[in-house]
Amino acid sequence: MKKLAIFASGTGSNAKNIIDKFKFHPSLSVTLVVCNKPGAGVISIAEKAGVPVLLIDKERFMNGDAYISELKKNEVDVIILAGFLWKIPIKLIEAYQNLILNIHPSLLPAHGGKGMYGMNVHKSVIAAGDTKSGITIHIVDELFDNGEHIFQTEIPILKSETPESLASRIHDLEHKYFPDVIENFCT
Ligand code: GRF
Repeated sequence: MKKLAIFASGTGSNAKNIIDKFKFHPSLSVTLVVCNKPGAGVISIAEKAGVPVLLIDKERFMNGDAYISELKKNEVDVIILAGFLWKIPIKLIEAYQNLILNIHPSLLPAHGGKGMYGMNVHKSVIAAGDTKSGITIHIVDELFDNGEHIFQTEIPILKSETPESLASRIHDLEHKYFPDVIENFCT
């Protein structure tokens, strides 16, 4: 059985989708949710699903041991970032070399990098007059939104598109594809 930890600090709709998808999976299971924000929606989602939550502290994560001992104690094999905004420290990248995946709500390298998260991304896409957007799932390295792409898919920007409508359509794409990409990556 491969064990997944989901790192998330937002509402957790992707976390919920992934947890549900792998609930009865023969070789994959989500065994830990790691969160940096007390009160984040993802915490109650994990609790309802019976997945333990590890609430982390910035100083220890960034400049301490990056919680590697807890991840190892929980036998975490692969880390999935689903709305986790802190940069991943080099220590953790080295401990999980090529085993950390992130999902980004644009067609990287466009609209990626520091500060490019949530609605900022969709506002930037609309402001740029892009004709398409999409999602990118990539390996995490020491730079923001930089590692090897393992999956991209795109949608056209509609004439009436707003950042809000785009955010919603991109979320649908994420829910449709992310679990399958994780499954292919892990098996
Ligand atoms: C997603 O749009 C993902 O691309 C980004 O953070 C968002 C998380 O959304 N990295 P949710 O909390 O899973 O709804």
